[in-house]
Amino acid sequence: MRVLGIETSCDETGVAIYDTAQGLLAHRVHSQIDVHAHYGGVVPELASRDHVRYLRPLVDETCEASGLKTADLDAVAYTTGPGLLGALLVGATFSKTLALSLGIPALGIHHMEGHLLAPLMETPDLPTPFVALLVSGGHTQLILVRSIGDYELLGTTLDDAAGEAFDKTAKLLELGYPGGPKIAALAEQGDATRFAFSRPLSDRPGCDFSFSGLKTQVLTEAKKWVDANQLDAQTKADLAASFQQAVVDTLVLKCRRALEITGAKALIMSGGVSANRNLRAALKALESEGVMVAYPAPEFCTDNGAMIAFAGATRLSAGQKDSTHAIHIRPRWPLSELPEVS
Ligand code: KG4
Ligand code: ZN
Repeated sequence: MRVLGIETSCDETGVAIYDTAQGLLAHRVHSQIDVHAHYGGVVPELASRDHVRYLRPLVDETCEASGLKTADLDAVAYTTGPGLLGALLVGATFSKTLALSLGIPALGIHHMEGHLLAPLMETPDLPTPFVALLVSGGHTQLILVRSIGDYELLGTTLDDAAGEAFDKTAKLLELGYPGGPKIAALAEQGDATRFAFSRPLSDRPGCDFSFSGLKTQVLTEAKKWVDANQLDAQTKADLAASFQQAVVDTLVLKCRRALEITGAKALIMSGGVSANRNLRAALKALESEGVMVAYPAPEFCTDNGAMIAFAGATRLSAGQKDSTHAIHIRPRWPLSELPEVS
């Protein structure tokens, strides 16, 4: 089964074709960084318009790269939510129309399930149950995965998501957008031990997170140096490195706790923040404790069409498909509402 995957939930237009027999045939991502950078964050209306502009050409490019025509497709999977309403509508309308015109099924996919299943593209034999750390711009969740569609939320953020904390901290350090990669790059030149930022909620039981206080700690510290006219490049790099280390340590601590609580022997990580090299290295180190650790290649950590095509292929293979041609999107959509895949 050849599934076209369409991702338009936020500021990346992602298109891919996944073949259940041959794996990923081709994928293309168009990033809107240039569109939004000037504003310091995503402008929803501009995001929708950019998806309209790029979706069709990307589908053509992806088909060409895979040597297929749209007539060779067996189904279309698209992101139904969560995400920006207008951006989701563009992808859903395009996908449903294409599927209808080709006479093939369409299936709406939960964006976070796309992230969650992405590591399985490369590691299909991951033992269940496993723990999933989903860290993106809008979500920070620890989930126990018993099987596909059987998800138990173990912990979530009480305020900012991990990616949001990176983005806001980058903004206050005037590093630009998107903040995660900017902080990570600057942190390479910094001393992560110089500033002792807290590891939020580490002294409390459970797997919840809280990152907004950490951002405030960075702001307070930076302000001290600004007021003294001493916020030089090295201090900024040290702030970035110390902040990043605090986030990484906190995420790893909670992952370890989730593994202990559940007894799971495998851990996956996905979502934009999982592209962070320090976080990847820190989680991989858990393998020395007898845990299998998997995460996608960096290009499949941030938003992409391949994860939607793959999640779609998984569910479509189990017989699921949209029951109507009507266009439905779910800008807010708890992962727990997904049906199980038998
Ligand atoms: O999954 P994603 O592409 O979009 C959402 O679904 O939110 O995640 C985007 C988030 C942004 O907050 C971005 O700053 C963060 O992932 N991010 C990173 C890195 N690359 C992207 N955070 C830390 N380090 C990175 N290398
Ligand atoms: Zn995402």
